[in-house]
Amino acid sequence: MCGIFGIVTSRDEPLGQLLTEASKRLSYRGYDSVGCATLTSDGTVDLRKDVGKVDEVAARLRFHEMRGTRGIAQLRWATFGAPSQANAQPHLDSDGDLVGAHNGNVVNNVELREAFISEGMTLRSTNDGETCVHAVERYVNQGYSMLDAIRRAYEDLEGDYAFVIGRVDENRMYAFKKGSGLVAGVTDGSAVVSSDLPSILPLTPNILRIEDGEIAILEPGRIELRRVEDGRSVEREIETVTETMEEAQKGGYAHFMLKEIHEQPRRAGEMLHLFDASPYVTAMVERMKTARNLYLVACGTSYHACLLGATYIARLAGRPAIPVLAPQFVPQYVPAVGPEDVGVFVSQSGETKDVLLALEASRPRGLQPLGLLNVIGSTLMRESRVYLPLACGYEISVPATKTFLNQALAFLYLALRMGGHSTADLHGLPDLLEKTIITTGLQIGDLEGDLARRDDLYCLGYGLTYPIALEGALKMKEVTYAHCEGMLSTEFKHGPLSAVTEGYPVIFVSGPEDVARVVSGINEVTCRGGRAIAVGEEDPRLRANAHDLIMLPKAGPLLNPLLAVIPLQLLAYRLSVARGYDPDFPRNLSKTLTVD
Ligand code: G6P
Repeated sequence: MCGIFGIVTSRDEPLGQLLTEASKRLSYRGYDSVGCATLTSDGTVDLRKDVGKVDEVAARLRFHEMRGTRGIAQLRWATFGAPSQANAQPHLDSDGDLVGAHNGNVVNNVELREAFISEGMTLRSTNDGETCVHAVERYVNQGYSMLDAIRRAYEDLEGDYAFVIGRVDENRMYAFKKGSGLVAGVTDGSAVVSSDLPSILPLTPNILRIEDGEIAILEPGRIELRRVEDGRSVEREIETVTETMEEAQKGGYAHFMLKEIHEQPRRAGEMLHLFDASPYVTAMVERMKTARNLYLVACGTSYHACLLGATYIARLAGRPAIPVLAPQFVPQYVPAVGPEDVGVFVSQSGETKDVLLALEASRPRGLQPLGLLNVIGSTLMRESRVYLPLACGYEISVPATKTFLNQALAFLYLALRMGGHSTADLHGLPDLLEKTIITTGLQIGDLEGDLARRDDLYCLGYGLTYPIALEGALKMKEVTYAHCEGMLSTEFKHGPLSAVTEGYPVIFVSGPEDVARVVSGINEVTCRGGRAIAVGEEDPRLRANAHDLIMLPKAGPLLNPLLAVIPLQLLAYRLSVARGYDPDFPRNLSKTLTVD
């Protein structure tokens, strides 16, 4: 989940400053390490990299001194392999003739590394970017040209990634991708390539978008595209983009929140690929299965994922899991935990103080801490015996969206594995999420006008959709500043029903198995004049009883909650904008709470 940038020029130039500036323009993605490499016309390679912020590392390692005809810059956002100088990118091949950097994840990293070591190559890190370099080296050593070596390496490297590589004795560079984004740009005397349009824009508006299965060959003032399959040329017109850098950073969306909502299908797919290939999943599943008591500990949005996780685990693995808010874990459970118990600590940031304090409090009693987190290198990662990455990339918007989805999906994956079930069907999820974003995005348009005027509403769910109702209500509160309470739908009649007056909005999130029960709740609201808005799969009972039905694609009870959260995220976003607020940075809130 990193950022890469590469440039080729016709003569040796002081590239260090340009590479530093390009790195800064990639930094909005989040990163833990930075590195630059230059290659000169007389065949020397200069590689400088370390953990830290761009300005600090660039000053300390004197990036401004770096010269060459080719340059690569990389910002690393760790997914596997702790942030360290060795794991920072770019990387060299065994004898230092090739230098390359990637972003994304190579999921067969471990197998390939072992093969490369047994073939006698020199590996210096555990990072999968280095694996990409050696994948090319393997075929260069067998006598293939760079192009043919890359074509073969492409077939060997599995996962979602983009990669740029140069060779000391060729004044060109090569770039290719699988899944991740990659864009090249051309100027009179140079060619550039990057994972991110914003890092190219100040240099040129003339770009070429590289597709999966293509290799871009970058030479001064020109870019050639070749097909991986047969090495033949691909013709593509250069396009001229008019986006500003800020627009490009938001991927063309008005806000990061919307961009991150739209990223969910891709991020879910990437995490599934990683989990399928990860030995840590098995380690985590074994510990969760054999625990005497299994606690799922978190705050805020991450806690809602734990609530859903506990329901998945009970249903699919036939064992209880106890979801608990981190600060309450301390008085309620810590006095009774022991070494046979397992706590899965869930945190996007891995730095939430409430979560870390709960983990710390349980340590003297021997509880086994496991982690589910998005930020590799975070304190939670270091404190966990085993952890899994959420593989979402940096989440900029304060309201968590893509990290919630991957937390919930991670629990579904773990629960299926704990119960001995196949996870194969989960691979249909990215398409279903994509469809949900498109179809529900259109449907919620009718609600916006009325709901944007409301300062008070409820969001109810039952069973697997109960945590989704809580999460939808939290999103609404965070970004619209309206009071929105999330609740178990059956509890509504035990008190809050008194709030219902003519037109009072109540959202009912329903799983396909729970329609009958939800319909009762809907009628309790509508017969008192309230406006019932149902979110669920097409069902004549929901359609007949609710005022509005936001229809979800048919996906069955397990995937339904993961789809149902989408219209709630979109609704919260749209209402926030309609009320004149900035959903990315809501007042009074912080993305990471490192205070009590
Ligand atoms: C803050 C954020 C929430 C987040 C919570 C837990 O309150 O504003 O969006 O859910 O912290 O964060 P974590 O990083 O531990 O998941």
